[in-house]
Amino acid sequence: MAAQPTLGILTLYLNERKALEEKPVYARMTAIGRKLGLTVFVFTPDDVDEDGDRIHALFYHPESRSWDRKWVRFPQLIYDRCRIQRSSRFQRLLAFRRKYGHLTFLNRPLRNKWTVHRTLGKVAAFESHLPATRFYDTPEDVHAMLRKHSLVYVKPINGTGGRGILRVERMKDGSYAVQGRDHGRRIVTPRRVSKEQLSGVLRSWDKHGDRYIAQQGLHIRLPSGRVHDYRMLVQKNGEGEWTLTGCAGRVGPPRSITSNLHGGGRAVPMKTLLREWIGSEERIGQIRRTAETLGIGVARHLERTYGALCELALDLAIDREGRVWLLEVNPKPSREVFIQAGERDVYRTALTRPLEYAQWLHRQRRLARTGKSRTVGGVGTGSGGAGGNGAGGGAGGSLATGRPQSAAAAAGHGSAAGMRPAGGYESEASGGGAEFG
Ligand SMILES: Nc1ncnc2c1ncn2[C@@H]1O[C@H](COP(=O)(O)OP(=O)(O)O)[C@@H](O)[C@H]1O
Ligand SMILES: [Mg+2]
Repeated sequence: MAAQPTLGILTLYLNERKALEEKPVYARMTAIGRKLGLTVFVFTPDDVDEDGDRIHALFYHPESRSWDRKWVRFPQLIYDRCRIQRSSRFQRLLAFRRKYGHLTFLNRPLRNKWTVHRTLGKVAAFESHLPATRFYDTPEDVHAMLRKHSLVYVKPINGTGGRGILRVERMKDGSYAVQGRDHGRRIVTPRRVSKEQLSGVLRSWDKHGDRYIAQQGLHIRLPSGRVHDYRMLVQKNGEGEWTLTGCAGRVGPPRSITSNLHGGGRAVPMKTLLREWIGSEERIGQIRRTAETLGIGVARHLERTYGALCELALDLAIDREGRVWLLEVNPKPSREVFIQAGERDVYRTALTRPLEYAQWLHRQRRLARTGKSRTVGGVGTGSGGAGGNGAGGGAGGSLATGRPQSAAAAAGHGSAAGMRPAGGYESEASGGGAEFG
């Protein structure tokens, strides 16, 4: 009987005092892992020793509810939870990903909002779900969009948590209503401006060193005047298949143009919101099925394009007609939205699935190594080379189930050493993105 597999949760310190985000979440995952037969620990690139063969990892002990450190060897599986930071720590993460790219990662970095949008835009099945979007170069890009759409959102391609977003609405009298959230997520006082003034507002908007997109805005104000949208979590399960874990509604605070929880939004069950917004139960059922197919299809496609993924959260808008729109995808989702929506079971599943998937992936890799994989191919050797294009379990299979093509395909997961250059800062995207809710 082989020793139980180890999963290292890769994260980043938030400051020089080694503060960590989501520690209680990792504590819960450790406890669940123990029940499943998976050893879980937490580490950052700064915890790897100089020789690069040991890690001073953080272990949680459920009995005493305490943390301590131990020197350990590298884990068999890595779950990357690192979110973008403007710090040297982030640069060290990029170096870590490059150096240890041959290890088995459950998930690889995604890309920024603009790149992801263009990637998805090439797929016919997603087209009708993508708001019209263009790269923002000059104010003229926004004016051009406003000629076609009465509402436009201008947002940073590496933005997270509802920061740095402007909402521009063309009013009947020819003026424009501008509202927003600055980079500190503070609400920008709403203003009515002329066309010329709008150009000035856009030019003087602090871009915080990022690049921007202009996107068709969806009318998602509830009768109360608050905006709303949905957070859908799709994850791989213990059989390596993409599944829908849950979907919850988010309602923004008064005067906010965003619904993000860390910007003061609150979570509500999807059904409650849809009943208020759409009404008909039959229609609601259709919308939920459409959203699920979209979510799973998007996850599979992005995995095929950019490499291993184990979960993805989609921000969805549903308009008055019941059409489902994809606002953005988040590869490092927080799950608190489900607790806040009162869906404890969904929250628990959301924590459990990556662990069950890790175990499945570990089994596949062992099978591949011992030459017992169901399909033969260059991957069966476990050399971590051939076939390991990182597309892994996403290859092939049906859109609805996300069923992986073969054990070998999945075993190729994360074995893309040398084939997948680690992304630079800009390719990190909403990818490395600190999407909190
Ligand atoms: N095109 C849009 N139409 C309407 N609301 C939008 C649009 N884009 C973003 N929003 C609102 O702003 C929020 C934040 O935008 P999002 O693209 O998810 O960026 P972030 O990475 O900052 O979360 C969304 O959850 C939604 O409430
Ligand atoms: Mg978002």
